[in-house]
Amino acid sequence: MNNLIDKLSRKHNLSYDELYFLVKNSTKESSNYLFEKARLISNQSYGYDIYMRGLIELTNHCKNDCYYCGIRKSNRNAERYRLTKEQILECCNAGYKLGFRTFVLQGGEDFYYNDDIMADIVSTIRTTYPDCAITLSLGEKNYNSYKMLHNAGADRYLLRHETANNDHYSKLHPSTLSLRNRKKCLYNLKEIGYQVGCGFMVGSPFQTIECIVEDLIFIKKLKPHMVGIGPFIPSKDTPFADKKAGTLQMTLIVLSIIRLMLPEVLLPATTALGTIHPKGRELGILAGANVVMPNLSPKDVRKKYMLYDNKICTKDEAAECRTCLQKRIENIGYKLVVSRGDCKYI
Ligand code: 5AD
Ligand code: FES
Repeated sequence: MNNLIDKLSRKHNLSYDELYFLVKNSTKESSNYLFEKARLISNQSYGYDIYMRGLIELTNHCKNDCYYCGIRKSNRNAERYRLTKEQILECCNAGYKLGFRTFVLQGGEDFYYNDDIMADIVSTIRTTYPDCAITLSLGEKNYNSYKMLHNAGADRYLLRHETANNDHYSKLHPSTLSLRNRKKCLYNLKEIGYQVGCGFMVGSPFQTIECIVEDLIFIKKLKPHMVGIGPFIPSKDTPFADKKAGTLQMTLIVLSIIRLMLPEVLLPATTALGTIHPKGRELGILAGANVVMPNLSPKDVRKKYMLYDNKICTKDEAAECRTCLQKRIENIGYKLVVSRGDCKYI
């Protein structure tokens, strides 16, 4: 097993069968070796710097009905909200003072924020904060919409592919959504010139080891700038409310394999990871992650953006999360930096 890990650290790639073996047969001991190797590569690429992104959850209205997601349109119990342009700018203002130099505007697929409204919001942030990166995470759009938002000043786009296996994709989503279109969106975003993030949930219902290996191979081929990986966590009022959550161990294994496959990729230690274990984000960093994404959304809407149950930080102010994260990160020998935190290979 350690030979395989050494080979992965050297070549940044493995065959399907080797990846399968690695994911399937990892033990406590071998995974500690894997995490150590991933941490080393992460240190070579980014030192002990941890980049932060301020997440602004602008709407929990969504036209889609993904079976895993707490803000799916069929969830009648979700209390819906939208942030105004002024509220969004207020979040940026507070975030800037706290040292954030990347703003991530994330939301459900909400018709209200059409291209004109979104482009206006993006271009105002662009002119107000010329030294900040603007990341969008607003789901699937057509080429021209992505292009218009890029022209308005957006630098990056996060769109998790969710699973690279067709059958698995259709078990997680209604038939109105397709893996084909998802992948098309990711390639369009790349072509337009965005720094792109894909990713998936570890331990989502019906996920097999084969699915995970296909995800890893897809990610290697896409060569994204960022990869968002977190455990699946059941969400009440969804069809998957009674399914099991993904595990800490498997999430860390996947994170570290991705670090070894793409040494310079931006890899967040996600809020979902912090939700399934009190030290989840720290353990993520020690397994090769180099980004954290605390919440900048106004406190009164935070509990409404519930993609999954028991999400952390829904009662904390942005400044509290900033201080809390700084302590956590310094405790493990890393430091939070005030920087746009671009990917090394843009
Ligand atoms: N558990 C964990 N992650 C989830 N997401 C959506 N629902 C859940 C859940 N129940 C993730 C999806 C989506 C991202 C914004 O949040 O992968 O792309
Ligand atoms: Fe939000 Fe710790 S990061 S309270």
